[in-house]
Amino acid sequence: MSWKEEYKAKVKTAEEAVKAIKSGNRVVLGHAVGEPVYIVQKMVENYEAYKDVEVVNMVAMGPSGFAKPEMAGHFRVNSLFLGGGTRKCVEEGRGDFTPTFFYQVPGLWKTELPVDVAIINVTPPDEDGNCSFGVSCDYTKPAAEAAKLVIAQVNAKMPRTLGNSFINVKDIDIIVEHDVPIVELPLPKIGEIEEKIGANCASLIKDGDTLQLGIGAIPDAVLHFLKEKKDLGIHSEMISDGIVDLYNAGVVTCAKKNFKTGKMVIGFLMGTQRLYDFANNNPMVDMNPIDFVNDPRIIGQNDNLVSVNSALQVDFMGQVCSESIGLRQFSGIGGQVDFVRGAAFSKGGRSILAFPATADVKGTVVSKIVPLLTEGSTVTTSRCDVDYVVTEFGVAKLKGKTLRERAKALIAVAAPQFREELEKERKLRFKEA
Ligand code: COA
Repeated sequence: MSWKEEYKAKVKTAEEAVKAIKSGNRVVLGHAVGEPVYIVQKMVENYEAYKDVEVVNMVAMGPSGFAKPEMAGHFRVNSLFLGGGTRKCVEEGRGDFTPTFFYQVPGLWKTELPVDVAIINVTPPDEDGNCSFGVSCDYTKPAAEAAKLVIAQVNAKMPRTLGNSFINVKDIDIIVEHDVPIVELPLPKIGEIEEKIGANCASLIKDGDTLQLGIGAIPDAVLHFLKEKKDLGIHSEMISDGIVDLYNAGVVTCAKKNFKTGKMVIGFLMGTQRLYDFANNNPMVDMNPIDFVNDPRIIGQNDNLVSVNSALQVDFMGQVCSESIGLRQFSGIGGQVDFVRGAAFSKGGRSILAFPATADVKGTVVSKIVPLLTEGSTVTTSRCDVDYVVTEFGVAKLKGKTLRERAKALIAVAAPQFREELEKERKLRFKEA
């Protein structure tokens, strides 16, 4: 049978497609803005047919109807990175969180978390019957490869990204044709604090460096301060709109990359339609599975790799919590440690953890630089991995510093109103001989 005949034979409605999901199945959803929201919605509407379907994903950008209280017993969330749609359900015990490095997720699909069903969102096939994973290749392609059953939304609005980002029609079991724009993430608001942090981070970035930038206002603010740089490269689990501006300004060329020269190596895209249009059929945008993009040993093959990520709290020793507030799991590890370690493997590499010096917790301003992490908080980046910590008040280089020196360096970038109190704690902790 030709792929075209196979394609025709596999087309079903979404209502028919979700009937192939069985009670007790583990279902992995396409990641982030690659979630096939339409089919997921039909799965949720069919909830009465299911008992204990485990829904696994990371950044959930859809409405996450499967996580609602009335879905208990029908669906159980197993999140590898909590977000607005899934946090409450885990807090209330109707779901769970599994800690993992992002680069190890494809390995989980093969061993510890075998996939029964992958629901993916792809482009229509090209002349060879290959569909592109578009905005999300990361764990989505490996999930489709590992799954016993692949349900694909074939979506003409999905940008056709290149790289190791394709699945052939022969490897899809059920096709649901549904054209719908990809979810857009509004541009983050950049205020005075983010600007200062951005400028401090940019002071650590040199011409010819290869960058990884996480999501949010701080990475975007960093990009604003890179307009004068030359020949920057990209090797990043994700990119957002800011990269398009730097590309258009001739700053991002990837010309000085010693690994995959001329290519931006990326796992997923998350931004506005402008970003998706930029990525469409763009040979420079090299999309890959996350066990390639985020493997610290692969990242480390780039010379001068600089990673920029954020955090919630850091203690005097340089232990960084980026994902929980006490025992409350807030987000996940994502690719933070993958890139911190990858940057350490990189010749000339640097890793930056950048965040505002304070947080507003229900109307009370607290310091994010603390003597001890809040009880129950997890250590995301360990004190042996941490390199630069950046706030709006400056840059603290921690790698190679003693515990005593680290505490001093961190207090120097803490918010001024907390420095006296932090200094008192430091003196109690580190005796002067
Ligand atoms: N104590 C108590 N609460 C704190 C806090 C602290 N020290 N710091 C932040 N918070 C609260 C904020 O008040 C806010 O609460 P709200 O949701 O009720 O408003 C919440 O935590 C989020 O803080 P914010 O600073 O707005 O987070 P963010 O959206 O900038 O995200 C991280 C920051 C660290 C949570 C996010 O980058 C992350 O999850 N990182 C881990 C994974 C990672 O780095 N991956 C790699 C790149 S994708």
